[in-house]
Amino acid sequence: MHSASKVMFEQMERNNMDFKAPMSTKPRIRIDTPMQASCSTLGVPQGVSSNNKINGGGYRNKVRLAPGHSPLDWHELVSTKGKAGKLVTGLDKIRNDSESLENFKKLNSPQSLILLERGVPTFAIRPPLRVDEEELARHNTPEDCWTVINGKVFSISSYMDFHPGGAKILLDKSAGQDSTMLFNRYHRWISVEKMLETCFVGVYVG
Ligand code: HEM
Repeated sequence: MHSASKVMFEQMERNNMDFKAPMSTKPRIRIDTPMQASCSTLGVPQGVSSNNKINGGGYRNKVRLAPGHSPLDWHELVSTKGKAGKLVTGLDKIRNDSESLENFKKLNSPQSLILLERGVPTFAIRPPLRVDEEELARHNTPEDCWTVINGKVFSISSYMDFHPGGAKILLDKSAGQDSTMLFNRYHRWISVEKMLETCFVGVYVG
């Protein structure tokens, strides 16, 4: 052992100090779930509650994902259906609604619209499609759910059942709206651009 480390260890032993692993930089966010009575004194994790949330003594708001919905399963889906442009829902709604289509044509360049009509996946369209507030708001159901994070529009229906925070929170708080603030409040460190790469619809123009 290097002599400097040896001196440090000896010093720690003398002072009876613990050797602690570095603290995670990931913030633990306490969300409004009340602590269960059974763990009110020590805050010991109590496992899964009746609403299928892993409350962990009240400091986590993660849900138990159904089998086949792990991060690895999501990765698999992205590299198959996602790459083929099949994870984005709601485009037919634009095609079939004359008002929506008119608005969409005004917003987007002919080049982008041609690529869309040729079936190019939205994540590969250049320049990217442009989505305004009105169009975003139309996509607010479980089967057709769009949201905005950091100025980008994502179609998240396919992702919902894979979301560790649960589908409900996405439907309640982010469907058809800008959820940048909430996204950053819960997990600023997550790269949504990477995770939802193939769910990218276009840029948000407000
Ligand atoms: C749509 C894009 C989103 C993606 C890709 C995403 C991804 C994730 C991931 C990977 C986790 C697990 C984090 C961990 O293990 O520490 C998570 C947890 C969570 N997410 Fe999201 N999320 C998204 C949107 C949102 C939004 C919009 C909200 C709020 C409205 C939200 C609320 C939560 C909550 C409450 C948790 C559980 C946090 C905990 O207890 O640790 N998420 N999300």
